Amino acid sequence: MSNLKINMNNFEDVLKSLESQTLRVCVIGIGRIGLPTALSFAKSGLETIGVDINKNLVDDINSGKFPLKDEPGYDEIFDTVIKNKKFSATTSIEDGVPNSNLILLSLPTPMDENNVPDYSALKTVASQLSDILSPNSLVIVESTIEPGFIEDEMVPIISRSGRLNAEKNFFIGVCPENANPGEILHDFTNLPRLVGGINSDISKTIKSIYNFVFSVELVEMPNCKTANAVKLTTNVFRDINIAFISELSLMFEKLGIDTNKVLEAARKKYNFQVHYPGAGVGGPCLPINSYQLLNTAKRIGSTLSIIESGRKINEKMPEHVVQLTSNAFKEYQKPIQGSNILILGISYKPNVKDIQLTPAEEIIKKLQNLGAIIHIYDPYFKSTTTFGIRIEDNVESIISNIDAAIIVTAHDEFKTMDISFFSRMRTPILIDTRGIIDPFSAKEKKLIFRGLGRGK
Ligand SMILES: NC(=O)c1ccc[n+]([C@@H]2O[C@H](COP(=O)([O-])OP(=O)(O)OC[C@H]3O[C@@H](n4cnc5c(N)ncnc54)[C@H](O)[C@@H]3O)[C@@H](O)[C@H]2O)c1
Repeated sequence: MSNLKINMNNFEDVLKSLESQTLRVCVIGIGRIGLPTALSFAKSGLETIGVDINKNLVDDINSGKFPLKDEPGYDEIFDTVIKNKKFSATTSIEDGVPNSNLILLSLPTPMDENNVPDYSALKTVASQLSDILSPNSLVIVESTIEPGFIEDEMVPIISRSGRLNAEKNFFIGVCPENANPGEILHDFTNLPRLVGGINSDISKTIKSIYNFVFSVELVEMPNCKTANAVKLTTNVFRDINIAFISELSLMFEKLGIDTNKVLEAARKKYNFQVHYPGAGVGGPCLPINSYQLLNTAKRIGSTLSIIESGRKINEKMPEHVVQLTSNAFKEYQKPIQGSNILILGISYKPNVKDIQLTPAEEIIKKLQNLGAIIHIYDPYFKSTTTFGIRIEDNVESIISNIDAAIIVTAHDEFKTMDISFFSRMRTPILIDTRGIIDPFSAKEKKLIFRGLGRGK
């Protein structure tokens, strides 16, 4: 069977094309999620092409350089599928789409400076598909989108040129991605995935395709919008619960209660699901996903007051970190103005190289506004300049000039640091926003210590 004869609406055709490995796959957007996805499809034996507007990324991939160094396991898969020519990349969508049967979209869905979700990448690509998608192809959107986006936006745009008619000669569905950066291979091989199609036949087809590539449970949803609603619900659940614990931790701090101790004990109860307070919630998912649901509510005249309050709390946490810092400086009777402050960790979460919407940025800006001189050390960002600051390669060489250190990200490297390291600072102020320092050992070392949510 030639690949362009495969009718993606014909279940038998699709199964045969999987077995004979003639089904051709195009992944548009080969970033953090799209690249591992494309590599997984290629590893299963299906010829896969990745399309991306980032020329440097495409050049790196085609010259054999694996760009996601913090994704364990994928470097080997990358080497294999590049060598056996199952995977290549291109900047030209025309090189990828017309010869493919299955088009996966892993495009970014960020938000603008007013927290309004921005679906321009998906809309641009949908309009390109309208002109170049081969009849009888299947489009699967893996990006995180609002419920209704497939039906109300993608289908009308792809149908716009008049060549393509949904459910007649093109098919569409979703398989929202839910992997965690830094653990993508683990998550792709363990976490259940949601599938939803424009009709139930397409859902079944999508399920069989993903079954071929990933040996995980595939949860078939009644339609696309329900699948996307589940994806957003699970992430927003986390955003709200982090806000709940963060707000509680602010009160516990005043009461002299250690939130760590509260959570350690609370999690012993079978129906308590632990979340941790911190410097704020960043990343490409949680904050945006909350605003996506708020956008949906606004669009249809509903209210989601808990999500709104949760966002306000999470967005206030960087300011609290600055207050803790100011307070510690006051205790030492030293002005922040002109002091050297070391930020430990700028990633929005531990052990990944990713600063999207990281709370570190706001903390840094606020401290700079108070006149502090900021230094950054982050093992994932060596030899680069970020937020206009040259990142330190070696924290050892600067520690004696530092007046305060603030742990913003709980990277493993910081968890294993000996507390005496901080005694070598010029001024012994240590702020821990992630609950990784034992307040008693900080006290023993005579550090001026502030732990977020730990009580004084
Ligand atoms: N990163 C995560 O933790 C994560 C987890 C689950 C779901 N998601 C969702 O997956 C989707 C992709 O996220 P990501 O983190 O992989 O984003 P990313 O920014 O790492 O990758 C997106 C890629 O798309 C490319 N791109 C942008 N516009 C394009 C266009 N018009 N044509 C071709 N390529 C284009 C970019 O150059 C980039 O390489 C988003 O919807 C996100 O919400 C992300």
